[in-house]
Amino acid sequence: MNNILITGGTGLLGSEIVRQLLVQGKQVSILSSQIEPKVASGVRVFHGNLVTGEGLTGALKEATTVIHCASNPRGFQDTDIIGTKNLLKAVDFRQAPHLVYISIAGVGKTAYPYYVAKERVEELIHESGVPYTILRTTQFYQFVYNLINTALADGNDEVIIPNGMSFQPVDLSEVAAKLISIASDTPALLLPEFAGPEIMTYENMFTRYLGIFNITRNWKTGPITNPRFDLFRSGVNIFPEHAHGKITWENFLQKHARQA
Ligand SMILES: NC(=O)c1ccc[n+]([C@@H]2O[C@H](COP(=O)([O-])OP(=O)(O)OC[C@H]3O[C@@H](n4cnc5c(N)ncnc54)[C@H](OP(=O)(O)O)[C@@H]3O)[C@@H](O)[C@H]2O)c1
Repeated sequence: MNNILITGGTGLLGSEIVRQLLVQGKQVSILSSQIEPKVASGVRVFHGNLVTGEGLTGALKEATTVIHCASNPRGFQDTDIIGTKNLLKAVDFRQAPHLVYISIAGVGKTAYPYYVAKERVEELIHESGVPYTILRTTQFYQFVYNLINTALADGNDEVIIPNGMSFQPVDLSEVAAKLISIASDTPALLLPEFAGPEIMTYENMFTRYLGIFNITRNWKTGPITNPRFDLFRSGVNIFPEHAHGKITWENFLQKHARQA
């Protein structure tokens, strides 16, 4: 694994992969649609856009491994589906790289549109003939953390949070480490799910957040309807038999509280 290209290398997961690869002394390139993305020194930036196809051939030219993290849940038809088609079109199959794709645990079990798009991307990769490995993980802790921050940001005296949701989130540093180890291995098609160590209700996660950040707010749960909340009520994101992560919600919150 010499020349590694990370799509979405400026994102939450991608930037952690970049950070870990740099610590390991690896050469890292990223693809970014931004004109001047903020990256650590030593990272080679290929300017390009998955949706238009601009810059993809050049970015892929020397890559022996591609970790494909770029995504846009609000524009998945373009970024994820057309973007992946364009990425695959730009591969030189005489020297195709190992393509590592990050997908979501629960894909294939729900009609939730973003998950259906991720499944389509998996199929596109499979049908393309590129050597690949797909890892499906549960939500990152940051996802639930952001959900809670959004709920608390609403200025009402009493916060109402959606009832009935459960998560088995995972720390993205463990996901990044797993993807790096997969990338240096031989292509393995679709791997078993990678989930966090604990299954928690949203209420429990919310309560622990308030406790660790010393926040006093009146709150209660309510049957708020929203397709995304229904997704996390359905249980498709729960994988007790694949609880591979070690870092807990408590560990994650303590770390953020120290940094706050
Ligand atoms: N967040 C979760 O809980 C979770 C859980 C399981 C799996 N995943 C998967 O993990 C992956 C990364 O998620 P994330 O939360 O780290 O994403 P993120 O922070 O939103 O980052 C998305 C990245 O996509 C890139 N991108 C968007 N449009 C692009 C375009 N047109 N051309 C090139 N690059 C483009 C952006 O790069 P530039 O702005 O530099 O172009 C950005 O770095 C996604 O595939 C997601 O489905 C996420």
